[in-house]
Amino acid sequence: MNKEIKEILITEKELREEISRMGKTLAEEYRDKNPLLICPLKGSFIFAADLIRKMNIPCEIDFMSVSSYNNSTVSSGEINIRKDIDTDIAGRHVIIIEDIIDTGNTLYKLRELLQSRCPASLKICTLLDKPSRRQADICSDYVCFEIPDKFVIGYGMDVAEEYRYLPFIGVYSPN
Ligand code: IMP
Ligand code: MG
Repeated sequence: MNKEIKEILITEKELREEISRMGKTLAEEYRDKNPLLICPLKGSFIFAADLIRKMNIPCEIDFMSVSSYNNSTVSSGEINIRKDIDTDIAGRHVIIIEDIIDTGNTLYKLRELLQSRCPASLKICTLLDKPSRRQADICSDYVCFEIPDKFVIGYGMDVAEEYRYLPFIGVYSPN
């Protein structure tokens, strides 16, 4: 294994089993609601692709690319949209599909932005949750795995765009 990967935190099998469970849970909740999954790029693209195939109900997906202004002089709620969704979400049942919630700052602002567009409902589903790092007042409605405060890579998540291709989730540690 690559020297920079200290340990495997979540194996391929564990990912497969938990995402299958989560897909069933969402399918029960959203059957007949034609939910819109919103996937903030890039880290959650693999999770979203696997999850949507385990839901197996009519649903749509759209993609967004955002970043927070890390500037305290800008009011909270400001968010830099690099790519917006194409879908009108008014009256829709929306689920944000996240890779990992760390401080929660970006997601907090994204949720505010989407809420202002009047969806019928707005929930969050995250693959990983690092609750010990939280700064914003936000929690996920659906969590696959709670993890300790370690920097993780793989299964879509990167360090400087590397390692997204790994089929498992590993702990990154440069020497
Ligand atoms: P937050 O606004 O601090 O919650 O930032 C969350 C985003 O930071 C995630 O969607 C990831 O893209 C990235 N991130 C946070 N922690 C990690 C990690 O351990 N590995 C890889 N990316 C991370
Ligand atoms: Mg993300």
